[in-house]
Amino acid sequence: MQTDIENILTQASSDAAAITTQDQLESFRVKYLVRKGGIAALFDALKTVPSAEKPVLGKALNELRQKVQQLYDEKASSLNAGPASSTSLDLTLPGKRKFLGTKHPLTQTLDEIKAIFVSMGFGIADGPEIEDDYHNFGALNFPADHPARDMQDTFFLSKDALLRTHTSPVQVRVMNQYPPPVRVIMPGKVYRNEAINSRSYCMFHQVEGLCVDKGVTFSELKGTLISFIKQFYGSGLKYRFRPTFFPFTEPSADIYITCFVCGGKGCRICKQNGWLEILGCGMVDPNVFRAVGYDAEKYTGYAFGMGVDRIALLRYGIDDIRLYFENDVRFLSQF
Ligand code: PHE
Repeated sequence: MQTDIENILTQASSDAAAITTQDQLESFRVKYLVRKGGIAALFDALKTVPSAEKPVLGKALNELRQKVQQLYDEKASSLNAGPASSTSLDLTLPGKRKFLGTKHPLTQTLDEIKAIFVSMGFGIADGPEIEDDYHNFGALNFPADHPARDMQDTFFLSKDALLRTHTSPVQVRVMNQYPPPVRVIMPGKVYRNEAINSRSYCMFHQVEGLCVDKGVTFSELKGTLISFIKQFYGSGLKYRFRPTFFPFTEPSADIYITCFVCGGKGCRICKQNGWLEILGCGMVDPNVFRAVGYDAEKYTGYAFGMGVDRIALLRYGIDDIRLYFENDVRFLSQF
């Protein structure tokens, strides 16, 4: 009987190794493990052996049954998991989704601003973020020790290299490169040495505008910018022009619109006065024309500059400017 047990184990091992289909697995089970299978027959035979040998043979038989059962179980699970088995491929599982990015809220806002000015006949130009004193200040009629420079403190990389504080130096570059007439907008990043908090950051975005030709007037400036405001913010909005000072424009104005958070009643965003400043503008100062070699007797022009970041904050109801630049996907994927 001992030999029978050993023979069955050897046979079952080689049978199991040859199994590659569910059918063969089933035949294996029928051959060895069912009530009338090979192992059951040995259990029947056990009844006839002398009782002195029963305990040893009984133990060996139980071990045999366990081993063959184990062979079967291993084969069954490898058949179910293996690529050869058709039942392991679940075609109803959803596919893996690819993550698709979106445009940054500032890029979306910039795109809209650009589209409006392009539709009014403006071209688009850009310039470097590292500037020199001449382009950022000198040619724009900021004399060396003029207090107007104090409002635009920045980061100096060397005595004459600095991070531009506004996009106005691109006006100078465009006029140095092209003769009049010019009509361009100049979007880009600008830098100021500001304390960082929820409303201001050391880097932000502006869109500069410049239009120079014979006979350009202040009413053209007004017409163009009012048309922009109506297209961008909606035609029902109130706006106002308020005289102000810039070294490179004369006369100069700031444009305000009714605060669209409180509708003009006064709130935290508009500092309780009902108006939001959206851009600075004015007629190009003849000194700027002289600096770039344009004939100031023959040509006139207007320029303007608007901040993009705050507009987008208000538009999307974002309460902290720093969120723009942290690159947190949970924030960015909302736009
Ligand atoms: N450069 C000015 C600023 O940053 C804005 C401006 C641009 C004003 C063009 C007038 C004309 O504050």
